[in-house]
Amino acid sequence: MSLAGSASETSPPQVSQLAQNCWYAVASSFAFRKGPVAVPFAGHDFVLFPDAEGLPRLFSDRCPHRGASLALGQLEEGGCLRCPFHGWKFAADGTCLEAPAEPAGASPPARSDLVGERPAVESRGFIWMWWGSGPPDPALLPDLPVFPDEAWGHVESSFDWETHYSRVIESNLDNSHAYWVHKGTFASQDSPLSVPVDLRKEDRMIAATVSFELPVKGALKLLRTLSGQSGPLCATTTFSFYYPNLNIVDTSIGDQLRFIFFNASLPQSDTHTLARWVKYSKRKRFRLPGSEAQSIAISRTIFEEDHGVVRSQRPTPVPLDLTQERHVASDILSIEYRRMHRRWLSSEAAVTMARPEPLGS
Ligand code: FES
Ligand SMILES: [Fe+2]
Repeated sequence: MSLAGSASETSPPQVSQLAQNCWYAVASSFAFRKGPVAVPFAGHDFVLFPDAEGLPRLFSDRCPHRGASLALGQLEEGGCLRCPFHGWKFAADGTCLEAPAEPAGASPPARSDLVGERPAVESRGFIWMWWGSGPPDPALLPDLPVFPDEAWGHVESSFDWETHYSRVIESNLDNSHAYWVHKGTFASQDSPLSVPVDLRKEDRMIAATVSFELPVKGALKLLRTLSGQSGPLCATTTFSFYYPNLNIVDTSIGDQLRFIFFNASLPQSDTHTLARWVKYSKRKRFRLPGSEAQSIAISRTIFEEDHGVVRSQRPTPVPLDLTQERHVASDILSIEYRRMHRRWLSSEAAVTMARPEPLGS
């Protein structure tokens, strides 16, 4: 019997097109405040938690004692983290403070501190992890638009995609699939298609807007008739993307409804992406019991509709050579995403010439 672990235990999966030297959104601020939070990323496991000042700390998610996940543990006073297995306690800088089963007065053994710390900052509703061998550059933090204020409610959840993170990002930039993929939920093939307009491009941001009509049927039709509303129900969606992994989908329906959806795509492998999402909507005066669970369930159904098709796309990473797939006017955002991604990957190769050292975990 070999004493070495299997390859899958010892070497993280390779993730193609994994952008280096940039900030990845890895968890919402809401989840972070409740912490600790597991942050699986490209075959590595991290634990995220707030220190005594509420600042994010991110370490390898392995207890030095017996390898339990500290993300299953609990936060304690002073920004400390307690392991769920035998109760070892760690300070926010990773120092092991207590090993409770040791005789009274004994110090924790050598090499019992947390390892593999990575830079992390909180900004605009998310925790961002620096990934790369270069020094963290605050100027590269994505400049998200101002966040919804107290008048907005939110729900959040996650979704596992069986594909590369670039395909998830593109599906959140793509409008023209709605009529074919989402006809069971919110889209209608009777409505005219529209191409994105008002394209905005910056170095690491793209955005464009589409307008469309929603089907009016059932209870909604009755409600609109009773309130004297007639004609099509018009909606507008602005799709934005902030490099390397955050999509925003901002939808207004008629004059009444607006919801803003933030989606962070965490690369795991070429065939697995963990999406963490937050959906904001204007707070309603009366909130029915179970409405949050229902809101999450609706989003999940829509993702499952997407996933049924997106996981079939090959190759799983998007082709960066634009001649490899055919493009039409409605693909403008995915074309711009591929250009941006290719630009970043090629410039980083020129600058760094190397991948980061393996983490000390
Ligand atoms: S595994 Fe963490 S205290 Fe034992
Ligand atoms: Fe979709």
